[in-house]
Amino acid sequence: MQQGSIKRKRVAILISGRGSNMEVLIKACEQKDYPAKIVLVISNRPNAAGLDFARSHDIPALTLDHNAYGSRPEFEAEMNRALIEARTELVCNAGFMRLLTEEFVEYWRDRQLNIHPSLLPSFKGLNTHERALQRGVKLTGCTVHFIRAQMDTGPIIAQSAVPVLPGDSVETLAARVLEEEHKLYPDALKMVAAGGISVEGNIAKIVS
Ligand code: GRF
Repeated sequence: MQQGSIKRKRVAILISGRGSNMEVLIKACEQKDYPAKIVLVISNRPNAAGLDFARSHDIPALTLDHNAYGSRPEFEAEMNRALIEARTELVCNAGFMRLLTEEFVEYWRDRQLNIHPSLLPSFKGLNTHERALQRGVKLTGCTVHFIRAQMDTGPIIAQSAVPVLPGDSVETLAARVLEEEHKLYPDALKMVAAGGISVEGNIAKIVS
């Protein structure tokens, strides 16, 4: 939905499943004066729940089943073809569960964001909440960062801290963190889309 006269960055979202972060990004983009619009959703899983939500908001939603391609580069080439055809300017990974090649990551350097459910650089990778509980940390949270070839290492755009409470289970902690993810990702995308972030080396700086 294009409103007002602001220039909105064209954003594609990559998902693999539930798509709750995708939902909040779509809703944010429907707000007046938000500097981005979602032009495409791609899922690598045919039955990803998020696809229906995107379509119900009139956003083209495409399934590219990675199993149908002979190699990772072939799958990514097809994904890139769709992204370029949609004139994508920024890519947001939102629960996208495929590792990406260095070529793909470099093509979208400083134009591809990810949300990760921990305070990076702690707890990179999977099962973050389980490991946070095992380690006994008292604070965890979520991070939005630019993607680099090495998983969960890129420049940090924004973070939100969440307390670990006595008696937390993986489920209760995940739910508390997810609530913060849903605030953080739209805020971070807003900063990037508005040109408020510059990257120097591995540091993302807030410039406005
Ligand atoms: C989120 O916790 C996100 O941080 C992680 O995967 C989960 C995706 O959830 N990368 P959803 O698909 O956005 O609901």
